[in-house]
Amino acid sequence: MVRDYDPSRPVPAAVVERLLEHAIRAPSAGFSQGWAFLVLESPDDRSLFWSVTTSSEAPDGWLTRMSRAPLLVVVLSSKDAYLDRYAEPDKGWTDRDEARWPVPYWDVDAGMAALLMLLTAVDEGLGACFFGVPVDRVDALREAFGVPSSHRPVGVVSIGYPGSDDRRSPSLRRGRRGLDEVVHRGRWLTPGS
Ligand SMILES: Cc1cc2nc3c(=O)[nH]c(=O)nc-3n(C[C@H](O)[C@H](O)[C@H](O)COP(=O)(O)O)c2cc1C
Repeated sequence: MVRDYDPSRPVPAAVVERLLEHAIRAPSAGFSQGWAFLVLESPDDRSLFWSVTTSSEAPDGWLTRMSRAPLLVVVLSSKDAYLDRYAEPDKGWTDRDEARWPVPYWDVDAGMAALLMLLTAVDEGLGACFFGVPVDRVDALREAFGVPSSHRPVGVVSIGYPGSDDRRSPSLRRGRRGLDEVVHRGRWLTPGS
């Protein structure tokens, strides 16, 4: 993840299209493709995004650096698209019962689409960061950009050429968990046992 951007270098239009074309190549349950992408490029749109999703206090360093990103893509998911798709004859879940779903695949698939944008950004020599919209800001985001209640923001991908003042996440101090901690080969054995 990159959290500082060069504000003087917009993302070329062809690259924006490639990012989005790759996003829609993500896999999706039942090929439901219940995702949507709100693309914010103009200074006005981006500034509106930051004003409705952050507090009005003085911006902290994170926000100052992140708001230099020339491109923001809000990734949204539609649960109804999945419930509708799985109510079709070949799936047959006509009761639309959410308890049938092992996990919310509508959000999983939106996350996969976001990851494809992150990978494309790296391929293009760009930097990008995935981050969430605070729960108490979602309604304001909806209102500002006309997002219908059918769609929920899963996260936002900021994209641009990396700036010179990037900061790694302090969370990285936790260290990366190794394969020995997270992989269970054949049986779920407690590590070290
Ligand atoms: C679901 C999710 C939410 C995240 N939210 C934020 C966020 O709100 N702010 C931020 O700066 N980074 C956010 N990140 C980025 C993580 O901090 C980052 O992926 C993690 O620290 C590992 O760093 P790396 O991706 O650079 O290896 C988020 C990542 C994910 C997958």
